[in-house]
Amino acid sequence: SQDKIKKLIDLRTEAKLGGGEKRIESQHKKGKFTARERIDMLLDEGSFEEFDMFVQHRCTNFGMEKTKFLGDGVVTGQGTIDGRLVFVFSQDFTVFGGSLSETYAQKICKIMDMAMKMGAPVVGMNDSGGARIQEGVTALAGYAEIFERNILASGVIPQISAIFGPCAGGAVYSPALTDFIMMTEEKSYMFVTGPKVVKTVTGEDISVEDLGGAKMHASKSGVSHFMVDDEEEGIMIIRKLLSYMPSNNLEEAPITACSDPMDRMDDILNEIIPANPNMPYDMKDVIYTIADDAEFLEVHRHYAKNIIVGFTRMGGMSIGVVANQPSFLAGVLDIESSRKAARFIRFCDCFNIPILTLVDVPGFLPGSSQEFGGIITHGAKLMFAYGEATVPKVTITLRKSYGGAHDVMSCKQLRGDLNYAWPTAEIAVMGAKGAIEVLHGRKMAELNDADKVKFIAETEIEYNEAFANPYNAASYGYIDDVIEPRNTRFRVIRAFQSLQTKKQVNPPKKHSNIPL
Ligand code: COA
Repeated sequence: SQDKIKKLIDLRTEAKLGGGEKRIESQHKKGKFTARERIDMLLDEGSFEEFDMFVQHRCTNFGMEKTKFLGDGVVTGQGTIDGRLVFVFSQDFTVFGGSLSETYAQKICKIMDMAMKMGAPVVGMNDSGGARIQEGVTALAGYAEIFERNILASGVIPQISAIFGPCAGGAVYSPALTDFIMMTEEKSYMFVTGPKVVKTVTGEDISVEDLGGAKMHASKSGVSHFMVDDEEEGIMIIRKLLSYMPSNNLEEAPITACSDPMDRMDDILNEIIPANPNMPYDMKDVIYTIADDAEFLEVHRHYAKNIIVGFTRMGGMSIGVVANQPSFLAGVLDIESSRKAARFIRFCDCFNIPILTLVDVPGFLPGSSQEFGGIITHGAKLMFAYGEATVPKVTITLRKSYGGAHDVMSCKQLRGDLNYAWPTAEIAVMGAKGAIEVLHGRKMAELNDADKVKFIAETEIEYNEAFANPYNAASYGYIDDVIEPRNTRFRVIRAFQSLQTKKQVNPPKKHSNIPL
């Protein structure tokens, strides 16, 4: 039996070497970790249990039967993060470039099925040359098996994808179906077709980095939610991200101990809104000020910066924050910001994470490019997401809340649970200037320039007195209370505490038909 034990140990040692020392070295030379090193960094020390270490491919095309590796290019298993169960797969670039075979796909499907059975998140670390070319159609079928599981798991367990190397062709669609994508700068890329194919088909000359690098996806396409300098940072963010989430949709979001006083007064907030209503301020200052220990994990930091989304804790409760950003495009709602926020709200709603909305929005961005791009449909996504969500929702209007954008940003009638306003709030159909143009256009056309300026100034004062305040909305009960800015942290925490027992259900249906 000693021999048999030795054989096991030898096989394990062989499996752990993946594609061998030389390819491991070349992986390190590229500034990348190996599949196993990544898992060790991700999981609590010593918690990893590997499955299917002895799986090998069954391909016999092109003499493939002569080249086999234990584990077949992907390391899969279970472990814990902060003591909570997670399932992982980590693609091993040292084995056939991490390319996906039939058996490789089966390994991934196995851990996804287990994750669903146990109600635990799946973290996938991607570093692969795509479908294994020698296998052909069985590899494609393997992808589809994974996609179907990604789809069914969506909204049941959190799914997180890290892209630590190539991810091209069909391979992009598994990450695309998951909740969050992270990419390492200059080491990872994602595209449906690479630069060579692009050149052949369209004649366009474009580099790998420009076509599908982390920067592009973080800022232009919005495909990636997090851009990180290196894998260590990426793995740290995955651990942190999971700390805000329950393990599945039937659990409540985690509540942690909080040493930051709940009733901390932040005098700085009484001063933060500039006297001039057209002057910006940084909404992130407000978020950091009211959050527990000034912590905020921003999602989509470089994309659609006119809206901010991310996770924080308040009184120890996990909270999803959605906030207009007056310091970028005046915080206007457009196609990208609507999509970004809608997706985030739906994630929070899937996983019982309450939503705090901070409003300072001048309206929707006017113009043909927005209308041609379908702002009507995309803006509707945001409204749909808020109106459908049943998680606790607290809304604070800090300054502007105009027109359709007022309705969209978690107003009372779209299931806002507790809606507060600062005394600086202006809740109206539109800003004074626009309103005067519409209401008094004919009269103004008859005035000379000097009289026109005078007329606008006078009418503006009248309009602002009537509408540029929170009390008109409050008089109808659309705002539950007007609060002192410095007391915001306490009011938000108390609101979410009181909402913890909230129960709301949507009418039974197969699924809704959100405007896509
Ligand atoms: N199928 C089978 N083997 C693959 C593969 C694939 N899709 N992609 C890479 N490999 C193998 C390579 O043959 C090489 O094997 P070797 O170590 O035995 O020589 C190894 O993986 C490393 O690949 P290499 O091309 O040397 O690495 P690189 O870092 O220079 O380039 C890629 C990486 C991904 C850009 C490149 O391998 C590539 O273009 N792959 C094909 C991508 C593709 O079109 N896939 C189909 C999409 S669905």
